[in-house]
Amino acid sequence: MNNDRRAGISRRRFLGGGAVLLGGGLLAGRAFAQQGCPVTQGDILGPYYRFGAPFQSRLAGPEEPGERLVVSGTVYSADCRTPVPGALVEIWQANGAGLYDTEKPGNYTDKGNFRLRGMLYTDAQGKYRIETVMPGRYPVPPNLPGLEKYGGLMRPAHIHFRVIDALHVPVTLQLYFKGDPFIAGDPWAHERTTNIIELEQDAEQRRGVFDIVLARGFQ
Ligand SMILES: [Fe+2]
Repeated sequence: MNNDRRAGISRRRFLGGGAVLLGGGLLAGRAFAQQGCPVTQGDILGPYYRFGAPFQSRLAGPEEPGERLVVSGTVYSADCRTPVPGALVEIWQANGAGLYDTEKPGNYTDKGNFRLRGMLYTDAQGKYRIETVMPGRYPVPPNLPGLEKYGGLMRPAHIHFRVIDALHVPVTLQLYFKGDPFIAGDPWAHERTTNIIELEQDAEQRRGVFDIVLARGFQ
């Protein structure tokens, strides 16, 4: 977890608890929780999802061209503090040149070789970690039904996630990277504030922390 995110969560916990202690009661506590502990925002599935990716957290081996990237994080329940173990996390992305393993949009059931795709379960602490490469940017393909007006628009770099747990509402999302100049003009990225993370870089790789907060499937 990066420092900003960690500080943010600590602050939220403090404020959430404080609201109740100061006599605001349950309603005030909930209001704070809603403000300071947002559920991770959903996003479009996109045209390059394929069903049935292999179970692996190392999406890219050393032979994959590109800049090494490690993303890790925790899947939390809606209170932002209860980890969700055993959540199914599905991940897919373009390669460093902005190409998916199948360049056919809508090719959901193709069972050919999966590349830069994987599934994993969060561990007992709700944590996950993937090793991959930085995804390249690519333009929205032309003539996608419903997205015709965006055809050719260059998208910011992103990694797709789908997170499923039995007691929570599944979320499909795209992870974006702070500082990408294409975020502002992207109709999906620009308002997905919970899904934009900062990356740190050392001599070997970029690293980022992306925590995911799921809405509860029951009250
Ligand atoms: Fe994509």
